[in-house]
Amino acid sequence: MSTQIQIIPSTAPVGAEVRGVDASANVDDATFDAIKDALHKYKAIVLRKQKLTPDQQLAFCGRFGTLDPHVLPQYLVPGYTQLVRISNVLDDAGQPIGMIDAGRVWHSDGQFQAKPNMYSMLYALEVPHDAAGQPLGATQFVSTAYAYAQLPQATRQRIEGLKAVNSLAAVYATLKRNNVASLRAPLTEEQKREVVHPLVRTHPVTGEKCLYVSRAATMRILGLAQDESDALIGELADWCLREGSIFTHQWQVGDLLMWDNCASQHFAIGDYALPQRRLMNRTTVGGTVPF
Ligand code: OGA
Ligand code: MN
Repeated sequence: MSTQIQIIPSTAPVGAEVRGVDASANVDDATFDAIKDALHKYKAIVLRKQKLTPDQQLAFCGRFGTLDPHVLPQYLVPGYTQLVRISNVLDDAGQPIGMIDAGRVWHSDGQFQAKPNMYSMLYALEVPHDAAGQPLGATQFVSTAYAYAQLPQATRQRIEGLKAVNSLAAVYATLKRNNVASLRAPLTEEQKREVVHPLVRTHPVTGEKCLYVSRAATMRILGLAQDESDALIGELADWCLREGSIFTHQWQVGDLLMWDNCASQHFAIGDYALPQRRLMNRTTVGGTVPF
């Protein structure tokens, strides 16, 4: 028999809390399937009050698929190849112990890769607070499946079959313009490589069509003049973020937040600084070539 889980949707078109799961335990298959279904339905889900060692986080997240090794080895949790720190905490030498500025533009993980990450998971070890005890450093989500489903018919026709060029170099350029990512190492030629993905991609599990466009990562739409391309990228990116679309996750220590990178985009609010500490351990599950 499976554990009874409870799903509490957010008031936005994306996001839910899943209650009644201990991710450190041997979650049975029926319960696991229910969690995975909730992730596909709500695009971003949180399991609260979890107590996970690195190995337990890896074991639970590994049930969703093959865990990716991370591209920035300097931020790995020591002794691990698939567990990355997202943190503003500094080591004794004054260097950040993790990625200090992850997600400061709206994006989905790995859009600049030939095979973007399928899911990402963040486990909160330390959460910054203001003087009144309110949590800082929230993470926001939108559903790109909802964004596509709500598009006017004429726009859907206009973008049918279009493809776009994406790159990490474009993301870095945006971060630089916004005065973040100053601490990151320069990109290698390999990391600068451009990839072409459909502007509307099909979810490999649910079959939903999802807008796959980001102001940061998407450089141009093939077959359009650059100004026309810029305008369409801007229009579609804004559409994803329009009024009533955003779910804001306010962190608590022990949260295990997971999201679907095909059907959602996310954004990290950088409204905290040391001595307010933020420390999260991140895993990602590999994906397939978008279609
Ligand atoms: C990420 C990311 C957001 C956050 O880890 O991919 O975008 O709030 N993080 O830390
Ligand atoms: Mn991200």
